[in-house]
Amino acid sequence: MRRRAALTLFVALSITPCAGQSGTSPADPLAGRFGGPFRLTDHAGRRVRDTDFRGRYMLIYFGFTRCTETCPLDVPVMAAALDALGPRADLIAPLFITIDPENDTPDVLRAYVEGHHARLIGLTGSEAEIAAVARAYRVHRMRVDMPAGGAHATHHHHGASWTISHGSLMYLMGPDGGFLTLLPHGTTADRLADVLRARVV
Ligand code: NI
Repeated sequence: MRRRAALTLFVALSITPCAGQSGTSPADPLAGRFGGPFRLTDHAGRRVRDTDFRGRYMLIYFGFTRCTETCPLDVPVMAAALDALGPRADLIAPLFITIDPENDTPDVLRAYVEGHHARLIGLTGSEAEIAAVARAYRVHRMRVDMPAGGAHATHHHHGASWTISHGSLMYLMGPDGGFLTLLPHGTTADRLADVLRARVV
């Protein structure tokens, strides 16, 4: 019963990323459903793996630099919450993992993360690597070709003929890499900072 409720929450959050309610707190049954090993390339071109971040909390967000809807709201929230934490933010590795590796090269990511927060780390990889990490975190990603005049059918608009619909949860993983909690799209910086103060110790 409890497991079914958790699954319903997950499906609702991930399929309607713009409809999440701020302040939703996941139940423990979600632990173990998100996360896993990854091998990716950071915005400086270095190969990294999940174990490189052990000892720090990973605050993970999946998105893409050309996103015009969800990422422009959520990434600044991450940045503001990190600033609000003060020195304790040093315990956190904030990760922006692209779900558009074709366009988000390390150079593109570097410009993007540097524009948002000095400590934000951009991660990209091969299509297979990104598909694997998205699977591990149960992030849906779907390229949507937009017919002329059909832009309102999707949450994302960036002026091109396609966009990527994607899940937009924030994940907080512990120093051992294990799942701690997640927050939905639309979470405020104050709320995120409160959660981080409570969890990052
Ligand atoms: Ni987005």
